Amino acid sequence: MKDIPFAGPWITDVEIKYVTEAATYGHYENCMKYILQFEKEAKEYFGVKYAIGTHCATHALHLACAAIGLKEGDEVITTDHSWIATAYTVTYTGAKCVFVDIDPKTLCIDPSAIKNAITDKTKAIMLVHNFGIPADMDEIMEIAKTHNLKVIEDAAPAMGAKYKSKLCGSIGDVGCISFHGAKIAISGEGGLFLTNDDEIYKNAILLSDMGRTDSVAPFWSDVLGYEYRIGNLPAAMATIQMRRINELVDNKRKIYSWYEKRFNGVDKVIMVKEKPGTIANYTYPSIWIDRAKSNSSAINIIKSLKEKGIHCRPGFPPMNFFPVYDVNVLNKVAYDFFSNGIVLPAPHNITESEVDYVVENLLELI
Ligand SMILES: Cc1ncc(COP(=O)(O)O)c(C=O)c1O
Repeated sequence: MKDIPFAGPWITDVEIKYVTEAATYGHYENCMKYILQFEKEAKEYFGVKYAIGTHCATHALHLACAAIGLKEGDEVITTDHSWIATAYTVTYTGAKCVFVDIDPKTLCIDPSAIKNAITDKTKAIMLVHNFGIPADMDEIMEIAKTHNLKVIEDAAPAMGAKYKSKLCGSIGDVGCISFHGAKIAISGEGGLFLTNDDEIYKNAILLSDMGRTDSVAPFWSDVLGYEYRIGNLPAAMATIQMRRINELVDNKRKIYSWYEKRFNGVDKVIMVKEKPGTIANYTYPSIWIDRAKSNSSAINIIKSLKEKGIHCRPGFPPMNFFPVYDVNVLNKVAYDFFSNGIVLPAPHNITESEVDYVVENLLELI
């Protein structure tokens, strides 16, 4: 059996043709053409007023934190289980991350934990649609409304996922999407900043272009900004992947259903699953291992599978333990998933017999 990678995209001739076109013609008077087209289609697809294409989701998240005005002395309530970009982009602004626990069913931030963490310094909630599974947006938006907080949706892995009828990334004050090579839709590196808010957009677009205003002279900059806009080539790639998002989501959901069928009735394994009323994109299908019944720990299972060419990942280490924070709070569910969670391989080109191979080997080890 060949190696089964953890993730990988589905690229067709349509992407190759359009990127080739951008590489050939996307210069001179066309130097913004593919970027503007990407942003236009993103606005239409997400049904939002503004979209900014960024080099990556990390930049979009930082723009979000800066554009809502976070600063030293502010607190932002966020999940303890994510890729560290979620937290570091808050910390870049000087604001403090308050890490709270997650819901074991979805691995997304637990709304009741948000409520308990609110202080008079809380300015925002930074949630993650973890592994492409929608967070509890109604509850979160209600808490935000009651306490006058901004909501940033880290929808980096959640392109195409839906909460009720709304796309993840289009619900909060700002939504951020990633087109990193391991995501459901890719452009190598790429991101989107989405908002309906005029003021937030005005701040973000200025910051994304080095604070350049040309107000006094050409190239004049009025605020400390960043070079965060996407380029023509990744924008072209992301545009086609966005146009194909429904089939990309269908494909990931098909892979998830293969795993689900095989784990059905296995009492040592629980699949992490969308809640009713939501549609996950299942970018990263994941499972809980019942440690009391399993012969091996998640980390040892992952190691043994790797020896067979099967590339899984563990849950994220709780971020509050990282040296940058060193808070050492025990958010039990986040810690448990770090210890007993496995994220399964789901590259777009995985076959059903490869899923068989993954599951057979995994079940043997537990
Ligand atoms: C939850 C989450 N947030 C942010 C990011 C950062 O995305 P990017 O690599 O596009 O900067 C990722 C990417 O892995 C992610 O999974």
